[in-house]
Amino acid sequence: PLGTRVNEAGRIEVGGCDLVEVAREFGTPAYVYAEDDMRARARSYLAAFAARTEHFEVIYASKAFPCTAAYALFREEGLSCDVASGGELFLALRGGFDPARIYMHGNNKTEAELAYALESQVGTIVVDSFDELDRLERLAAGSGQRVMLRVTPGFTAETHRAIQTGQIDSKFGFGLSEVERAAERCRQIGLELRGLHAHIGSQIFDLAAYERLAEVLAGLGDWPLLNLGGGLGIAYTRDQKPPSYDQYVDALLRRAPDAVTVLCEPGRSLVGNAGVTVYTVGTVKRIPGVRTYVAVDGGMSDNLRPMLYGARYEAELADRPGRSGELVTVAGMHCESGDIIVRDVSLDRPRPGDLLVVPATGAYGHAMANNYNAVPRPPVIFCKDGDARIVVRRETYEDLALRDV
Ligand code: LLP
Repeated sequence: PLGTRVNEAGRIEVGGCDLVEVAREFGTPAYVYAEDDMRARARSYLAAFAARTEHFEVIYASKAFPCTAAYALFREEGLSCDVASGGELFLALRGGFDPARIYMHGNNKTEAELAYALESQVGTIVVDSFDELDRLERLAAGSGQRVMLRVTPGFTAETHRAIQTGQIDSKFGFGLSEVERAAERCRQIGLELRGLHAHIGSQIFDLAAYERLAEVLAGLGDWPLLNLGGGLGIAYTRDQKPPSYDQYVDALLRRAPDAVTVLCEPGRSLVGNAGVTVYTVGTVKRIPGVRTYVAVDGGMSDNLRPMLYGARYEAELADRPGRSGELVTVAGMHCESGDIIVRDVSLDRPRPGDLLVVPATGAYGHAMANNYNAVPRPPVIFCKDGDARIVVRRETYEDLALRDV
């Protein structure tokens, strides 16, 4: 369920590649993805919709994993694309996305970002505020630019507070009572308003929230398009059981009016379980009666999620997974005590030089990587049928100084 498998040699493999060999070739830390896994997930989403309706669109929420190769992959699979900034738009275009299939998001798109989107002929701008409408009036009056309105449905789903977005107290979108006035502004400016958008949060297992969302949006008028956002959760640990794509799509469609085209924007659930991070163990510190720290050559610079959200992960040794031994804490190499990747995981006598694999890091890992402690960011490796190729190279020390004037 976490996306890895064990080969005949008893080692973890991803995309048919033995991670011990991948680490030998490309070094650690490294993000390693199973290319076919991402493709299969895109196809499963499309198939789940196609089995139920002709009117749908699946949009890759690229914030989960924005790199040229990922954009190209999901473009090839026939998805549309959600970008949340000018930078993501740049990468999406670089990855070959047809601008007509791009949705531009953001609660504070700058004038320059909006101009870039218009110039690039982005298909749809998802408008978030009256101030943004003022900007569009200056930049695109009478253009017939297609837009949707992001609304705050006024309720949210059960997930970490930092990634809840549907509640009234949110920086995103128009309040329900403002939708009519915003729609009127669109007409006045000469924009083509196609429908409504809402995103209630991320890492969601509670599908009833999506039914409720469809109901709320459908109650706001007869729009040809309703975008119900992203947010389907994934398994980070063995005990988590996320809903299937079929169940999720059922929930999206159950309350949506028949004539409406339903759009969704999955990010995490397309890439999260397709990627792992491979580290090398450097030190093992045993504090008798207290704890054993197993420190690896990465940490909060390549995976911020434990520190930001208290996120939980599993860890395995690449050449002897599944074997339990002592309960340890996997720590990073950064200069903070809170730089812990996994708390309380059982590993088989870990020692320096071991390769440690953290599954389910494909979403918001590379995306939120940073250079804390001037640590170069890891490469991204795509594996397919036993072949590994580099799609983002490792950062170098020279890269770290490139912008210093
Ligand atoms: N659509 C909109 C408008 C969004 O804001 C997001 C995520 C998505 C779609 C995709 O949601 P997903 O399917 O990936 O859950 N950094 C956090 C997640 C932040 C999500 C922000 N918006 C994390 O690591 O958990």
